[in-house]
Amino acid sequence: MTSPAAPRIVVTRGLPAATLRPLRDLGEVWISPHDRPLTSPELHEAVRGASAIVTMLTDRIDGDVLDAAGPSLRIVANTAVGYDNLDLTAFAHRGVLATNTPGVLIDATADLTMALLLTVTRRVAEGDRLIRSGTAWSWDISFMLGAGLQGKRIGIVGMGRIGRAVATRAAAFGMEVAYLARRPHTDPPDGAPLTLPELLATSDIVSLHCPLTAETHHLIDADALAAMKPGSFLVNTARGPIVDETALARALADGTIAGAALDVYEHEPEVHPDLRELDNVVLAPHLGSATVETRTRMAELAVENVRAVLTGAGPVTPIDLPVGSG
Ligand code: DGY
Repeated sequence: MTSPAAPRIVVTRGLPAATLRPLRDLGEVWISPHDRPLTSPELHEAVRGASAIVTMLTDRIDGDVLDAAGPSLRIVANTAVGYDNLDLTAFAHRGVLATNTPGVLIDATADLTMALLLTVTRRVAEGDRLIRSGTAWSWDISFMLGAGLQGKRIGIVGMGRIGRAVATRAAAFGMEVAYLARRPHTDPPDGAPLTLPELLATSDIVSLHCPLTAETHHLIDADALAAMKPGSFLVNTARGPIVDETALARALADGTIAGAALDVYEHEPEVHPDLRELDNVVLAPHLGSATVETRTRMAELAVENVRAVLTGAGPVTPIDLPVGSG
């Protein structure tokens, strides 16, 4: 009797070595040797015969990739809480499980949101650039004034766990919290539930924390930007395509809004060239979850999901697949 072949586990980009150790007891592990996302042909080639794939948010996993893996594939464990890179309908059709990493990056992302919010409202990055440029400066009563936060309203779009963690921090800074209430919450957060037009018209800061879906794509377009309160700021640590970047660059250049702080981009990692020219926008390279502790926990959770599924238990943090498409 021949023993069944060891499952093939594909990891599309390096993860901390210690977090990958449990996978080695489960089968043959292939880890991308590249310090960049795999190209589409490389991804198709790498996944062939895989039972499990550990993916990054930079991997687009559609029906073609699932088919390239073949019938052995049981789970795709995405190392991110967001999963707009997975075609869930294709997963449901093929009976492949999908998992993400919720719950472990709430604080890191909320902290970065506050860091960006402070950086843009207090012109920290602009000041850093000024000093590095060697430009002469001296303290003056009206030099590089920013906007204070106390008593200002933050309008949170996406009052999930990260949105709530931002609300807690903003309240500690003396801000008034409002949030977009699309549907009733079973556990209503503190703050004022508003419609999108109300939130845009009355918030001094609009902070995005919703997932990218067909419904939220370009939620912040030229009309939404025009509807924002004069002198207000936009912060996006969610997903780039929620904002129409061309419209944003225009609104920042003509003073429709006072400033923006972005961690994510419409065509990531590309950044709209006009944004790079503007002083009133802070640009971070998708750092929301980028602490040693959080990224380690994300990798561990992705690996735990693979281990659970390959050893016959249910996934730890499954993503709901569309009903009726299986
Ligand atoms: C996620 O997990 O979706 C974050 O964007 C990663 O930083």
